Order: sequence, then C-alpha cells, then structure tokens
Amino acid sequence: MKISIKRYSSENEPSAQSAEYRLELENITLLEALNAIKTKIDPSLSFTAGCRSGVCGSCAVRVNGTEELACGYKLSDGDLIEPLGNLPVLRDLVVDTQKMLKFNALARAWSSSNSENQLLLPEQVESNELQSDCILCGACYSACPVYAVNEEFLGPFALTRVWRYVSDGREQDVREKIEAVQSQGIWDCTLCNLCVPVCPQGIAPKQDISMLRGKSGVMGFMDPNFAAGMSFSFGGGPDFGSPSGLKSPGTS
Ligand code: SF4
Ligand code: SF4
Ligand code: FES
Repeated sequence: MKISIKRYSSENEPSAQSAEYRLELENITLLEALNAIKTKIDPSLSFTAGCRSGVCGSCAVRVNGTEELACGYKLSDGDLIEPLGNLPVLRDLVVDTQKMLKFNALARAWSSSNSENQLLLPEQVESNELQSDCILCGACYSACPVYAVNEEFLGPFALTRVWRYVSDGREQDVREKIEAVQSQGIWDCTLCNLCVPVCPQGIAPKQDISMLRGKSGVMGFMDPNFAAGMSFSFGGGPDFGSPSGLKSPGTS
C-alpha cells in the first residue's frame, strides 16, 4: 500500500512537500502506519498521539480532506494525510492547539462558581451528557469554514461546551454565558453542518449553536445582522421593528 503525507519542516514554511511511503502492511489504522513509518522508514516524521483508543483526542489529522482520528481510521491505498486545518503547523502533522483552546476561556465554557450543588434527575443528566464527551480533538475546528474569514470566531467545540453548561439546571450564571457568545459567536456560525459529521464523539455543534440562538432570543438578544438589516430597511430611524426589550450584542 502507498500513502502520501504532507511534510512541513517549520511553522513559517509557506507550503508543504508531499512524501510518499510504501508499506507492506494491510488492514491497519493510520496511527499504526505512522508508527511503522517513524520506526522503520523515516524517524524524522512528526505527529502526535497518546491513548491509541479514541480517548485523548491528540491524533486528529485530515485524510483526503476529511478530519479523522488516526488511531480509529482504517488506512486505504492512496490516502493523503495532512495536518488539521485552521491551525499553525509546527512540523509535519503536529499543529499548535493553543489558539484553538483559548476559545473555551473566551466563551466562558465552564460551570460558574455559584452553580448550585443539587442532584439532577437522570433525564436532566442525559440532556447534556453527550457534550461532556468532547475530547478536544479539534476536528470540528479544522472543518469549520468560518475561520477563513474570521479568525476570532469562538467556534464549534467552545459553543457546544457553553450549551452544555447553559442547559445544566444547576447553572446560575446563564445570562453571563449567553452574553459571552453574542460577539464572534453564535450569530457568526453559518449553520453549514460541516462540524457535525467529523466529530468522533457524535456531538453536533451546529445543533447546540441553534439551541444557544433560541435561548438568546428568549433572553432578549438578537442576530446583529438582522438588527442592522431592520435599521437599514426603516431608513435608520426608530427601530420600531424590534419587539420591546430586544437588544443587540454590545448595546446596553
Ligand atoms: S455549523 Fe457553524 S460551527 Fe459548524 S462548521 Fe458550520 S459554521 Fe462552523
Ligand atoms: S466537539 Fe467533537 S470534533 Fe469538536 S473538539 Fe469535541 S470531540 Fe472533537
Ligand atoms: S491517540 Fe488518543 S485519540 Fe487517537
């Protein structure tokens, strides 16, 4: 079997070279192939992996343009392996995830200090159990096309995580969290769904973003683009198209 791997020698390299490798192995995972190449063919190949069982999220790459976990992907002849998109490449398949991870903090994707300590019913636990399974692999971040035009977009996994806490009956700071995702957040998502099929955990960030939009509407926020359109339609005069109390992000 023959596969190709995009090789980058440094972060500042403008373009990558593709290297071809022949393997005498069949029916193996991509991670097994990468290990075989590194130990027997080319020790300079760089990639990241940890658990080898779909738990740590560190081995995500793109295969033929689609995000996959290397430890879970069955390799085929002719596959092209590339690093995740939307992230700086440090070397070969190794990307710098620092920028990606900062979005969890910007989106306040955590349980507030004043969350109530109370028992939940099983159905309440189930309602956001899936979002808690995120392994921060970055596959959804890599697949999201919004980053081509907006590098500050909070992005799929951070917004999914915010919904996890907003929908938690113990959370007491729901408004603060909803406010944190108005700018560069839920309204910048195009609902294209590209983040959904690539998630190895079966999480659907698009659906969670839609839920956050609904919750925002109930709490009096609205899409700033829609608000701007209404203002334009009415000649920039009084915003009599907005229901009383609606407010756009950034307004007080
Ligand atoms: S649905 Fe939204 S978050 Fe998901 S890939 Fe599309 S634009 Fe990005
Ligand atoms: S939501 Fe899914 S694809 Fe995105 S980082 Fe978490 S586990 Fe990976
Ligand atoms: S090595 Fe941990 S998820 Fe693949």
